Amino acid sequence: MAKISQQTIDLVKRTADIVDVVSEVVKLQPSGKNLTGLCPFHSEKTPSFFVHKDSGLFNCYGCHEKGDAIHFVQKYKNISYPEAIAELAHRYHIEIETEGGDEYHIKSDLKRPYELNEAANAFYQVNLTNMERGKVALDYIRGRGLDVHTIQYFELGYAPQERSVLFQELKSTYEPVEMMELGLINKGGKDYYDLFRHRLIFPIRNEQGKLVAFSGRILEKNENEAKYVNTPQTKLFVKSQVLYNLDKALPFIRRQKRVVLFEGYLDVIAAFQAGVKEGVCSMGTALTEEQARLIKKHTDQAVLCYDGDSAGFEAMVTGIRVLENAGLVVGVVLLPEGLDPDEFVRKKSKAAFASYLENHVIDPVEFEYEVTKRKFDLTKPSQVEEFKAQLFKSLERRGSQTLLEFYIKKLTQDLSVDESVIRSDMHHHQITQAILASNKRKKEQIANIAILSKRIRAENRLLLYFVKKREFRIPIIDALTPMFVKENLNVSILVEAEAILAKDNSLEDITELVVKAFTKESERTMVRQRLEEGIGDFSDVDLAQLIHSVNISKLEDEVLALQKDRELAPTQEEFMNISKQIQALLIRIQELKKENPWKKPKS
Ligand code: CTP
Ligand code: MN
Repeated sequence: MAKISQQTIDLVKRTADIVDVVSEVVKLQPSGKNLTGLCPFHSEKTPSFFVHKDSGLFNCYGCHEKGDAIHFVQKYKNISYPEAIAELAHRYHIEIETEGGDEYHIKSDLKRPYELNEAANAFYQVNLTNMERGKVALDYIRGRGLDVHTIQYFELGYAPQERSVLFQELKSTYEPVEMMELGLINKGGKDYYDLFRHRLIFPIRNEQGKLVAFSGRILEKNENEAKYVNTPQTKLFVKSQVLYNLDKALPFIRRQKRVVLFEGYLDVIAAFQAGVKEGVCSMGTALTEEQARLIKKHTDQAVLCYDGDSAGFEAMVTGIRVLENAGLVVGVVLLPEGLDPDEFVRKKSKAAFASYLENHVIDPVEFEYEVTKRKFDLTKPSQVEEFKAQLFKSLERRGSQTLLEFYIKKLTQDLSVDESVIRSDMHHHQITQAILASNKRKKEQIANIAILSKRIRAENRLLLYFVKKREFRIPIIDALTPMFVKENLNVSILVEAEAILAKDNSLEDITELVVKAFTKESERTMVRQRLEEGIGDFSDVDLAQLIHSVNISKLEDEVLALQKDRELAPTQEEFMNISKQIQALLIRIQELKKENPWKKPKS
C-alpha cells in the first residue's frame, strides 16, 4: 500500500492554517494575541479553548487537548493521521505524492471489518426483499406503512430464523474470529451461531456513512425477548458515539438548519416518509455528550420529538440539558395523546405530522411548564401549591426576569387567579428560599467549627502531656509536628518546648520554662492558662485516643490539600493520579476510624 510522501506531509503542515481549519467548526473570538472559543472536544459554557496563530497550535485548558491543525482534524473527525493529512491536502488543493508507487489509499486495518459488515448487510437485504423466507418481515414492515423506496433508502433487511445462515454464507470469505469481533456471530460450544435471528434488521452507519453496527427488531410480540437487539460494542461501534441516520440526514440538517431527535428507528423512518428528513435517534439510551457534540458540528438547532408519554418527557428533560450544554438551541415538540411519532403518522397522516412538527415547537422553559403542569391535578389546592413551587424553582434556575414575567402571566391564566396573588406567592417563595439557603450555610459553618474545635481540644490536651510528662513525649512527637498543629498558640508552645528539650531532654515538667520563654506578659498569661486547663489524670489509653484522633485529622488535611491540587492538575493523567492518592487516603481514614482506641480496655 502506498504511503504519503514526507514532502506532501511537510507541505500540508506548512500550508494548513490553524485559524482557518478550526474556525470552520468553532466560533472564535480574539483574546489578546490569540483566539478563543468553546472547546469542541468537551462540553463547556465558558471558553477555555485557545488558538495560537503564530505557533499554529490549539490548546484547551479544560480538557487539555492540544496540537496542530492536523491533530485537530484527526481528533475532530475521529480519523487516522494519514486520513487527516489527506483531508487537509484536499482542502488546500495539494496533490498527494506517494512513496512506493501507485495511488494513495487510506491505510487502515479497518477496511476488512467494514467490508464484512457490508457483506452481512447485503445478505440481510437480499433476504428481506428477494427471498421467500423474508416475506414475513417484508409483510410486517409494509404493514407498518413503509414503502419500497423507504425500505431501500434505509437498507432494511431480514435476518433469517435458522441458527447460522449468515455464518454459513460468509465463512468462505471471512474467519469466524472476524465475524465474532464485529458481533455478527457468537460461539456456542464448538459451533457458531448468528446474533440476529428472525429479526428485522436496521443497519447503523456512522457520521461518515461507514457501516458500524446493526439493530434487529422482533417480528412477533414476545414478552420473553428484547424488542430490539443491538450489535454489542466493537472496534467499529461505540453506541454512545453514534446517531442513527446522521449520515443520510446531514444534507437535510444543513438545509433545514436543524436536526430533529427521535427516540426510535421507526420514528426516524416514519418522519422521513412524512418529509421530515433531518431526523436521527440514539439507540435506546439517553442522549450522550458525545452525540450532542456530533450534532453541534453540523447545526446550532436541535428539536426534541420523543414519545408523548411520561418516559418520553423524562428523556427530553435530560436531553435538553445535554444539548444545551453542548451549546445548542433546543426546541421541543410534545406529541398529543401519548403517541410516538410513528403512531402519530399512522393514526393521523403524514401531512398532519409534518405540520405538527412545524407548528408546535416550544422552548425548553415552556416545555418544563407544560410537563410540570401535567404532573399535577390543578383542581386540588395542595397540588396547585406544589405546581407553583416547582415552577418557581425552575424559573429561578433560569434567572431571567423576562421569563419570570411571562410565566407569572401564564400562571395567572392557567389558575384563573389574580396576578397580584401569583406575585405575592412568588415573593413568598423567594424569601423562603433565601432563608433556607442562609440556614444551610450557617449549619455548615457550625459543623466546621465543631470539627475544628474537637481537633483543637485534642491538640491542647496532647500538648499538656508533652509539656508535663516525660514518659509520653516520644509517641507524641510523632503525632504532633508543628506543621499539623492547627492553633497558633499551640504551635508557639510546641516550638518553645522542643527548643527547651533539645538542650536537656531529661527534664520532667517543663511548664515553667515554657512560660518563661515567652517575653510578653500577656502571652505568658495565655500560655500558663493553656497549660493549666483541665489537667486531670494522664493515662496511656487517653493518650492513644488523642494521637489517634490527631492522626485522622492530619490525613483529612492531606485529602483537602490533594483535592486543591487536583483542581489545578495540568493533565488528565495527573488528575487521575491525584484521585487515586485521595482514594487511598480516604480508605486509610475509614480503616483508622474503625480501629477505635476510644474503647477502654477491660480491667
Ligand atoms: N431500544 C433498544 N432496545 C430495546 C428497546 C428499545 O435499543 N430493547 C431502542 C430502539 O432504538 C428503539 C428505541 O429504543 O427504536 C425506542 O424504543 P421503543 O419506544 O420501545 O420502540 P419504538 O421505536 O416505538 O419501536 P416500535 O415502533 O417498533 O415498537
Ligand atoms: Mn413506536
